[in-house]
Amino acid sequence: MKFFVDTASRKEIKRLVEWGIIDGVTTNPSLLSREEGKPEEIIRDICEIVGGPVSVEVVATDYENMVKEGRRLASLHEHVVIKIPLTEDGIKAMKTLSDEGIRINATLIFNPIQALVAARAGATYVSPFVGRLDDIGHDGMQIVKQIVDIFTIHEIETKVLAASIRHPRHVLLAALAGADIVTIPPAVFDKMIRHPLTDVGLEKFLSDWKKASKSFDS
Ligand code: G3P
Repeated sequence: MKFFVDTASRKEIKRLVEWGIIDGVTTNPSLLSREEGKPEEIIRDICEIVGGPVSVEVVATDYENMVKEGRRLASLHEHVVIKIPLTEDGIKAMKTLSDEGIRINATLIFNPIQALVAARAGATYVSPFVGRLDDIGHDGMQIVKQIVDIFTIHEIETKVLAASIRHPRHVLLAALAGADIVTIPPAVFDKMIRHPLTDVGLEKFLSDWKKASKSFDS
């Protein structure tokens, strides 16, 4: 399972790329609106930093303008993937852009049938929003599992990208559900690597070593 970062913060992306485990980035209009500067510059910078797929969402809502905006955003950098919401106009725009060879991330997916439709429209990725379903009392990860099952049964190549991730348990469940990718906010990455027993264990190893006054040859 690949890890993407769910943020538009160049500072956070740089920090996490240095870990060496990041394959891509997902942004959305809310995330980009929080960053200072021209969106196009931010997008180009992120593409250079991550060196892999960077999802950028169109803000137009009608077919013609979604297609126009999608083409323009895709021309910014070879790593840009166009994020399109699962609406009637969105489906048509997905089909047109994917036929032109532009990679699509179908976003705001809340059930497996929406994912199936997006795959038929040529989406490279589908993004089920796990946390937002959990927020309203549903089992968000069940949707991920069902999409994975459907895509496996029908040999669909579209990748399942688990999104709206709120905590490390979501990452665990996405892995168990068979998601191809999980897009994770920076704060969740930090929580993923922490364990109190790791800290206690390290402290003990180092104090034992120090007490014994040992050293490795340098
Ligand atoms: O980028 C889409 C998705 O991950 C948004 O997450 O936390 O706003 O529901 P959230």
